[in-house]
Amino acid sequence: MKRSKRIETLDKRPVNMDGFINEWPEMGFIAMKSPYDPNPSIRIENDQIMELDGKTRDQFDFIDQFIADYAIRKDRAIASMAMPSLDIARKIVDISVPRKEILQIVSGITPAKMAEVINELNVVELMMGMQKMRARRVPGNQAHITNLKDDPIQIAADAAEGALRGFSEEETTTAVARYAPFNALALLIGSQVGRRGVLTQCAVEEATELELGIRGLTTYAETVSVYGTEKVFVDGDDTPYSKAFLTAAYASRGLKVRFTSGSGSEVLMGYAEKKSMLYLECRCLYVTKGSGTQGIQNGSVSCIGVAASVPSGIREVMGENLVAALLGLECASSNDQSFSNSPMRRTARTMLQFMPGTDFIFSGYAAEPNYDNMFAGSNFDAEDFDDYNVMQRDMQVDGGLKPVKEEEVIAVRRKAGKAVQAVFKYLGLTEVTDEQVEAVTYAHGSKDTLKRDVVSDLMAAEDMMKRNITGVDIVKALAETGFRDVAESILNMLKQRVIGDYMHTAAILDENFNVMSGVNTPNDYMGPGTGYRVEGKRWEEIKAIPHIIDPNNF
Ligand code: 5AD
Ligand code: CA
Repeated sequence: MKRSKRIETLDKRPVNMDGFINEWPEMGFIAMKSPYDPNPSIRIENDQIMELDGKTRDQFDFIDQFIADYAIRKDRAIASMAMPSLDIARKIVDISVPRKEILQIVSGITPAKMAEVINELNVVELMMGMQKMRARRVPGNQAHITNLKDDPIQIAADAAEGALRGFSEEETTTAVARYAPFNALALLIGSQVGRRGVLTQCAVEEATELELGIRGLTTYAETVSVYGTEKVFVDGDDTPYSKAFLTAAYASRGLKVRFTSGSGSEVLMGYAEKKSMLYLECRCLYVTKGSGTQGIQNGSVSCIGVAASVPSGIREVMGENLVAALLGLECASSNDQSFSNSPMRRTARTMLQFMPGTDFIFSGYAAEPNYDNMFAGSNFDAEDFDDYNVMQRDMQVDGGLKPVKEEEVIAVRRKAGKAVQAVFKYLGLTEVTDEQVEAVTYAHGSKDTLKRDVVSDLMAAEDMMKRNITGVDIVKALAETGFRDVAESILNMLKQRVIGDYMHTAAILDENFNVMSGVNTPNDYMGPGTGYRVEGKRWEEIKAIPHIIDPNNF
């Protein structure tokens, strides 16, 4: 066939390198409504849920049982289940119905009913819902801080720059697992150099992650994964009960915890049970709610390639973010994993959370070049900072970040590197040379930094754990090497664990360690003239992008 030059050109566009598939419910490739999804139902006898979404109690799997016993308000169920799903959907977008009233209604509906409600909403209505239902008044943002070399100096410098740019939470993981203690340590120090009060996390194997948390080297945990079918849980040697136990372990030591879930995981694991991604994700979110965890990282997350491949998949992702908010959970709304070759498509996907604002618009914005992202690449990275800042300015939207000055970036990066150097020396870990600190100070990514002695680093990281080094040792090291301000900041982070207020729903800390959460600063949006507005000092910050025409020059 003679080819059309138009079609040939289109065929070569980045978007056509993406993977697409039409509905295939038998294998779980269906975004929002599978013909095999159950119809909503509930029956309560003697204060026990005896039937849930078409199954009687003797037919329950452990997810059904967990949800029936812990995630649905039995005192509200009869009234809420009697309301037509369309009426609930309309209340969600109705500006005269307050958030609190929606939370009450929704606390009595089942997962299948929740999926039905979400199916009534188009994508703009989902965004309207999120604008009202997000837990915290002010939206926020989370960064990924990683690099190919697990270079602790770069982690500290990138964390400092990220904190300066506005991230309220920063998360690291490793390229080499044994580097975890160093990554956690460097992230803790760097974050507090950039802005006091930033929460940090090191996503690694569960036992190590818990130990780093207990020692005060991290302040929150997030990758406590839950799934929508029993078989996927079993494949991971887990149950909703084991996840609830792990949450309690973190929370008992004063760490903030959220779960992770997201559509597509059950499809990838081959156990979607012919159900829609939305329905399965509703089950995950009810398990999260039932476990007592304050929040969730969801929105397909690492499985975004699956959700994005099916029709209405990106709408479904926003739908599952809204379900989290409807259940009163903090929502860190993904946008973390890269999923498309098309810059237009990846931007469009992010706008659904960016415009209404979520508790964390990204649950992992790569604050390094994408080649250094050890979470398999993020939807936005350090090369997109200025684009993102301009989008905030264009739309007068608070995306959680701000433009920064080059001098400030260089200063905080150097200070973070120097602080790590001092702590490493004081604690007798590995050597950090002045040249390494200088290289990292001016670096974009690990291609611009010097080599580390990996064997020595790994031995020292192991030694650090054997010697039982904790957050208190880091405070002491910093205080005695001329970094008193950073020491005080980390000491304050340790105090938060005793106070415990930052474990409330959607909590973040400001630079004076004041908690801002869904409890003390709840979202009060009820239409024009209400809720959070970008104004005053924050608007001036957002407006101050580089490369701007100065009228005084004319
Ligand atoms: N469902 C459950 N857990 C997920 N994670 C990422 N995506 C999902 C999902 N869709 C968790 C996994 C992974 C980490 C980065 O986040 O634990 O290791
Ligand atoms: Ca994350």
